[in-house]
Amino acid sequence: MSISISGLTKRFGQTDVLRGIDLGVEKGELVALLGPSGSGKTTLLKIIAGLEWPDAGQLLVDGADWLQLAAQDRRIGFVFQHYALFPHMSVRDNLAFGLAVRPRNERPGKAVITAKVDELLHFLQIAHLADRYPTQLSGGQRQRVALGRALAIEPNVLLLDEPFGALDAAIRRDLRRWLRGVHEATGSTTIFVTHDQEEAFELADRVVVMGEGKIEQIGHADAIHDHPATPFVARFMGATVELPVTLLAGRAEGAGLDLAALPRRALGDGPARLFTRPEDIVALPDPKAPWRIVTRTSNGANLRLVLRHPDLGEAEVDTPRRATAADALVVDAPVRLRIAFGTIFPDGRKAATATTAQPASISIQEARQ
Ligand SMILES: Nc1ncnc2c1ncn2[C@@H]1O[C@H](COP(=O)(O)OP(=O)(O)O)[C@@H](O)[C@H]1O
Ligand SMILES: [Mg+2]
Repeated sequence: MSISISGLTKRFGQTDVLRGIDLGVEKGELVALLGPSGSGKTTLLKIIAGLEWPDAGQLLVDGADWLQLAAQDRRIGFVFQHYALFPHMSVRDNLAFGLAVRPRNERPGKAVITAKVDELLHFLQIAHLADRYPTQLSGGQRQRVALGRALAIEPNVLLLDEPFGALDAAIRRDLRRWLRGVHEATGSTTIFVTHDQEEAFELADRVVVMGEGKIEQIGHADAIHDHPATPFVARFMGATVELPVTLLAGRAEGAGLDLAALPRRALGDGPARLFTRPEDIVALPDPKAPWRIVTRTSNGANLRLVLRHPDLGEAEVDTPRRATAADALVVDAPVRLRIAFGTIFPDGRKAATATTAQPASISIQEARQ
């Protein structure tokens, strides 16, 4: 089913937890909500599920006003991080539960439920676990069963709230691939919540980046990585080096910075901020430059430098060792910084809204040395 959310707001006490959410999810799409803890992801899912109610806004599913529907009438499949399977029931009975408790006039017969559960057990590759109890399962197996229980009712919408959050990295990767396969086979409209970038980008058709109750950007991995719409997204995506620059006739200038790779853009003159990544900076020995190397470590492949500027503080650089003048890059050496890639936001500019397709930012692109 297609979901259309507009102008959704929610306040708990003095806190604006959702501050005007507009989001459309197409039928059969898998969308990831990505954002730090506290950004409102779970609250948004709960509103879609009917477990929480917004203060304002609209929630339409296939055109129907879901805010008029009670939770049990929405037929939502929900999987939480710590999904409590019924401990006294076998895997088989857990899967059957959602069907067995349907109102009498909608409840399938026993044989139909058994067949449906068998089908799910095979489809989810958990048939060998059918007669086990939850305590006899690993964390990853439990989450597979939890997803099976959510799917058993043939949900209109599947909501997954950090379902793999408690599991370790290798198992998460397996489950991600498995879930993607399940999604492709069922075609259910799915919203997956995570604070893990890798998980979001690997799994989802589109990623929705949330910060403090607002959607900051919607898009695919490459666009969000290379063209963050707001400073928040830039930081969240690992552009941890922030440097003040000055825009003049569409060019950026900064202390000890080589920004020649910047294409000229139609942006107003004035102070601005450059966001870049340690791996997108090349340190070049330059006796007149204001940056000094504070620490230098090498792991063989990469050289990691911490640099200090007398006024601007520290910046980190992470470059392939053999591609740089590594011998000259010693502690205390003066260097200038060539920025290979970055994004600039004029100071004082309000964060772009998620609906702005082209952020008013400059992207610097240059073939790496
Ligand atoms: N029932 C509630 N009462 C009061 N504050 C809440 C409630 N639920 C969530 N919050 C607050 O709303 C904010 C967003 O929470 P949540 O939606 O759980 O974010 P996320 O899932 O992104 O971590 C947090 O600051 C949280 O403390
Ligand atoms: Mg949450």
